[in-house]
Amino acid sequence: MENILEVKNVCKSFYQGSKEIEVLNDINLTVKKNTLISIQGASGTGKSTLMHIMGVLEKPTSGGIVFDGVSMTDKSDKELAVWRNEKIGFIFQFHNLLPEFSALENVMLPGMINDAWKDKGGRQSIRDKAESLLREVGLEDRMNHHPSILSGGEQQRVAIARALINDPVLLLADEPTGNLDRKTGEVVYELLIHLSRSRSKAFIVVTHDEELVNKSDCLFHLKDGGLS
Ligand SMILES: Nc1ncnc2c1ncn2[C@@H]1O[C@H](COP(=O)(O)OP(=O)(O)O)[C@@H](O)[C@H]1O
Ligand SMILES: [Mg+2]
Repeated sequence: MENILEVKNVCKSFYQGSKEIEVLNDINLTVKKNTLISIQGASGTGKSTLMHIMGVLEKPTSGGIVFDGVSMTDKSDKELAVWRNEKIGFIFQFHNLLPEFSALENVMLPGMINDAWKDKGGRQSIRDKAESLLREVGLEDRMNHHPSILSGGEQQRVAIARALINDPVLLLADEPTGNLDRKTGEVVYELLIHLSRSRSKAFIVVTHDEELVNKSDCLFHLKDGGLS
């Protein structure tokens, strides 16, 4: 399947009090394997809303998402949660690591709730993969550290390793370096590009980083509910 993701006529409105605001109006987008897509837009234009819809975290008001050839429209919340965990890696501005777990355990968690690992060696295999990913993002010395004693850049690298544990077909990153200084942000972007390209992932990122935009296959602007 060449098309990883198809966004079809997606509209999204929210009620704020009794007022309905339309955030997305007839969005169409096709995402193929091994592409890097950047999305830009002013604050409040609906970038995060679109990312949540593409990541099947949120449902559109109308229109639909076809993921890996399968329509998401009639799936239950439970089915969507399973799909999300197995097929999509998320990296947010704030890493959302669980403070009570070590870096290694945080990376392992999405694997522990993915039945696909049962036939592939279970917990030990998940652990091996998590360790290998943490080495790949340069954190071989930090595996047993808890998030609170890691730097912002290190925490985000843990989040990247976590996003890759289930070998997702799509990576979604919503302003992943918005919380980091410029230099650390560049390191994180280089890593994201390298990891997604080396694994032929489709990678969609909301970013204002010019260098990343230059390396993208496609750049979209979100404005007045439309993508151009
Ligand atoms: N759950 C929600 N309920 C009501 N309004 C929302 C909700 N989520 C987002 N919005 C509104 O949708 C608009 C777009 O938000 P968002 O997608 O976060 O924009 P961006 O990521 O581009 O800054 C904003 O006006 C925001 O207030
Ligand atoms: Mg946002």
